[in-house]
Amino acid sequence: MQTRTDQKLGWIGAGRMGYAMAERLAKGGCDIAVWNRTKEKAEPLAKHGAKVVNQLEELSTRDILFVMVSTYDDVKQVLNKALASGSRNGKPKMVVECSSISLEGSAELRQMLKSKGVEYLAAPVSGNAKVIKAGKLTFVVSGPKAAYEAARPYLDMMGTGSSYVGEGELARIAKICHNVMLGVVIQNLCEITLLAQKAGMPRHAFLDFLNKSVMGSMFTRYKTPALVNLDFHVTFTPKLLRKDLDLGLDAGREFEVPMPLTSLTRDLLQQMIGRGMTEQDFSTLLLMQGEASGIELKPENVQVGDGLS
Ligand SMILES: NC(=O)c1ccc[n+]([C@@H]2O[C@H](COP(=O)([O-])OP(=O)(O)OC[C@H]3O[C@@H](n4cnc5c(N)ncnc54)[C@H](OP(=O)(O)O)[C@@H]3O)[C@@H](O)[C@H]2O)c1
Repeated sequence: MQTRTDQKLGWIGAGRMGYAMAERLAKGGCDIAVWNRTKEKAEPLAKHGAKVVNQLEELSTRDILFVMVSTYDDVKQVLNKALASGSRNGKPKMVVECSSISLEGSAELRQMLKSKGVEYLAAPVSGNAKVIKAGKLTFVVSGPKAAYEAARPYLDMMGTGSSYVGEGELARIAKICHNVMLGVVIQNLCEITLLAQKAGMPRHAFLDFLNKSVMGSMFTRYKTPALVNLDFHVTFTPKLLRKDLDLGLDAGREFEVPMPLTSLTRDLLQQMIGRGMTEQDFSTLLLMQGEASGIELKPENVQVGDGLS
């Protein structure tokens, strides 16, 4: 396949992430057909030129098929259906799977697609929907290098680029490591922000310092409005984060790498989920930490930037 941007694209999954990603491709002028289980969520993409289809099977003739759903079980379900009707001349050349799934799931998928003669790239991402809108999404990709080069122009259209890490499922382990860091860092950020508050300073003042320091990052900046003003509008759910920490712990067991901080963070997240705190953002870990610290948290109602807009 040559490097070009005139391929017919198919897209499965218009959730928080999938919608924003597909929107960038549609706005970039790509020929893209989108399917989502809840069709209404995908429908606004039509105003950017995307074709919203009713049946997964309608995507079997697209050149490159992107998938962005929740778990490996969901990936399997949608792909089995999308490829069921594919004949020799009616199957995608390539599947680019972007959901956060396990190494084992990804390897099983590679086998399944190989048996159908479809190329496969594992291409999980870093960023949330707002990060995508700001053009700052990144991909970590593994699979055949030539397939990567063919998909690359589309990956570039969705964000600030991609890192190719090698053959097979290597991208999965990179993404799992990344999200383990996400969990551990948010928990620590909640701890230190409330330590600073209990010692007497406003959260926004502490975070202003942290964000300007060498320890500040795009992540600490874009989580600042949540921590200061208790805006827990969901970007990533506690259950999806628990899934990723579990993937990390499984990988730690497989490769015999101790992961004490990950285990502890997973338990704290589980406590939060056990209390029914599942519908808001994962940064509600702040509320748990507040309760454990004897602090009644209130929004500071201070305008703080998120570093994205
Ligand atoms: N949110 C983040 O910050 C973030 C960042 C990086 C990676 N990720 C990963 O990206 C993936 C998607 O996350 P998200 O935040 O976009 O989740 P989400 O908003 O919950 O969207 C999930 C998507 O998967 C679809 N889906 C789930 N189960 C399905 C099934 N059995 N059959 C068909 N469709 C199904 C949903 O369809 P409906 O609309 O019909 O429910 C929806 O389109 C996850 O693997 C997540 O771990 C998320």
